[in-house]
Amino acid sequence: MSEQTQKPVDELSEKEASRELAILAMEIANHDALYHGDDAPLISDAEYDALRRRNNEIEARFPALVRSDSPSKKVGASVKQSKFEKVSHVRPMLSLDNAFNDDDVHEFVARVKRFLNLGEADDVLLTAEPKIDGLSLALRYEKGELVLAATRGDGQIGENVTQNARTIDNVPHKLAGTNIPEVVEIRGEVYIGKTDFLALNARQEEAGGKVFANPRNAAAGSLRQLDLSITASRPLKFFAYAWGDISDLPSDSQMGMVELFDSWGLAVNPLMKRVNGSTNAVAHYREIEANRAALDYDIDGVVYKVDRLDWQSRLGMVARAPRWAIAHKFPAEKATTVVNKIDIQVGRTGALTPVAKLEPVTVGGVVVSNATLHNADEIERLGVRVGDTVVIQRAGDVIPQVVSVMTDRRPDNSTPFEFPVECPVCGSAAAAEGDDVVVRCTGGLICAAQRVERLSHFVSRNAFDIDGLGEKQITQLFSRDWVHAPADIFKLAVRNVKDENPMQKWDGWGDLSVSNLMQAIEARRSIDFHRVLFGLGIPSIGQETAKILARHFKNIDGFVTFLEHSLSIIEQTDQKMDAQDISSLNYVLMRLGHLKEFQAIIQPRDLFDSGEGLLELVHARVQRIESGVLKGDNLKVSHLQRVADFAKTPEKASIVPSLFALYEHNQELASIDGIGVDVILNLEDFYFEPQNRAALMDLLSELQVIEAAEQASDSPVSGKTVVFTGSLVELTRAEAKAGAEALGAKVAGSVSKKTDIVVAGPGAGSKLKKAQELNVKTMTEDEWIAFIASK
Ligand code: IVH
Repeated sequence: MSEQTQKPVDELSEKEASRELAILAMEIANHDALYHGDDAPLISDAEYDALRRRNNEIEARFPALVRSDSPSKKVGASVKQSKFEKVSHVRPMLSLDNAFNDDDVHEFVARVKRFLNLGEADDVLLTAEPKIDGLSLALRYEKGELVLAATRGDGQIGENVTQNARTIDNVPHKLAGTNIPEVVEIRGEVYIGKTDFLALNARQEEAGGKVFANPRNAAAGSLRQLDLSITASRPLKFFAYAWGDISDLPSDSQMGMVELFDSWGLAVNPLMKRVNGSTNAVAHYREIEANRAALDYDIDGVVYKVDRLDWQSRLGMVARAPRWAIAHKFPAEKATTVVNKIDIQVGRTGALTPVAKLEPVTVGGVVVSNATLHNADEIERLGVRVGDTVVIQRAGDVIPQVVSVMTDRRPDNSTPFEFPVECPVCGSAAAAEGDDVVVRCTGGLICAAQRVERLSHFVSRNAFDIDGLGEKQITQLFSRDWVHAPADIFKLAVRNVKDENPMQKWDGWGDLSVSNLMQAIEARRSIDFHRVLFGLGIPSIGQETAKILARHFKNIDGFVTFLEHSLSIIEQTDQKMDAQDISSLNYVLMRLGHLKEFQAIIQPRDLFDSGEGLLELVHARVQRIESGVLKGDNLKVSHLQRVADFAKTPEKASIVPSLFALYEHNQELASIDGIGVDVILNLEDFYFEPQNRAALMDLLSELQVIEAAEQASDSPVSGKTVVFTGSLVELTRAEAKAGAEALGAKVAGSVSKKTDIVVAGPGAGSKLKKAQELNVKTMTEDEWIAFIASK
């Protein structure tokens, strides 16, 4: 519910106030549970705070209406408090890729077959079972005894909830039966059944306790309780469906393993079935979907897993999900409601995101009052206006979306939404750049919204993970002029001691919370390199990319040296052009370097001799794309046109050598798998901005950055750059690449001086030749297989 669209508090009748307080209590409880549970919150901290503020204002005016479950009675809920001991998972707890339709499922099986080099007609047995909408839990049994229970956390590190798990009725404290491995970590889902959930909420309501928005939140909130008697009083249940650390595998199939779990006394899902191929898998999905309403627990899809465990291990995983499993999701739940207002939020990269403020409505058990409208194009595509009745949908934990507008219900006086041309926070011009659909505030670091968002990102869970610092606290520190840049966070303790109005005296703080905060900050002075990279909040550098970059550069010095080099190349041209021109031309160059069909006719190197020939080539190309003879989207046309324009002016042509030097320098990163052009360009944009450099240096002077660990350092190929070329016989290309990466090698697509090994199969051509010219070690596929097995 948005505060802006509501009646002012002093105009509310008692009845309206009471109704609104009830909704607020439920809504805030829901966000609390999301915040404290495994999943990302649906709303920003600022929105969350606005909800609480509204609640407090109404209560101040109607003290008699204060509810027993009022959010105002639960203090500090938005401060993250980790109360459980951290546990490192021996094997990461993975998530699953999603399939949203039948084709995605067929494609999944086709991919598996390609990866394993199977024929199209070959059978692939799969298991198909409900995807339980709860939270995952790992139960470690040693000699059959339950010794540890841990939540998923971020997949690497979870929380020790052993005592809590012991209170769950169907979690055995001791496994019984045969074939139990010495060590086995059973993984599965903790959930609360639908009937139990309703009864629990009724009890909570009666006792004036917290009312949960849905069974998943109730399960999450119940498991992670410091007071064990509370967990014990909640109707939690567990389904086992996977395993982690295990001393030996007592079966060779997924189904066999789950059958063993069953025989050891663990609860397994009765709807799990072994099917042959994707068509049968989808048939089982339909059956489960038809039964969904009758099940006494919430499910949000069907999970398929490759049944053969030897195949699972060959398939391995990519990013954070296994290649051998996929979740076929049920369609999103929908509802209709009215758009009261369209707000513009400014994100950390300055992106202006329109958000529809909705009349609160329940979708799949959750009260929704905001839906993202993404960008100006989306507003235009939907044709949505303030006052419109819209269909919204909510799938899983993703932010609710507006699906369509019911124009027949549009009020007469409505007008189209005008997207702002100024940043609503700092007033700077807001515009979309180049081919981007996103309108951004051009205020950069002068924009308070961007700074606060960047700082909030900096302290967030996957970045610096500073307990006790969220958007709310950052906003407070920022508006009091205490924190402007990341380094200021590490100077807080000193500043606080010196100030005559220390934080202890501020709203929302006390001796304990300030001392906890300072400790949490100190604990992060020593920090992993990839967290620093991610924390900088550079667009397109997410967690995975940050890890790849950290592994590549090893330490922060390597990173800074690389960008200093980029900068020095650019600075040589500085006299002739401004930075914006250079970055825009570099953008074109890098983009073109990645366009396959462009490479077929011109190499970026050709820009060196940007004579008539090149211009003609480019013009001809543009024409052919425009006339539809060649495939190519507007993006490509506009790139090509920029090249044409570029080559026209002699002044620009004169900086080509520097640009090309930059291009070559960037190939060091461009050849890394998983690093796209955007990453490189955004790194440059970040580093070429003097304020950012200064902020980074200032930060680094406060930190000890821990070097990226060498992956699988005992492997003979760890840290080596490998290129596969020609046809491989034993391994599929994907398998070879995944295998090399799992051993810590980097797999590149082209041969350069930096290549360590070229694995050449029959038919290898230019890459093999180049390797020989450059004296790079070459191997056959068999030699490679022997080599990686050699240690
Ligand atoms: S298998 C290696 N099976 O879904 C694969 N996950 O979106 C590990 N989930 O984190 C997961 N039911 O919490 C698997 N039958 C099922 C599941 C299931 C629910 C959850 C699990 C996982 C999440 C991934």
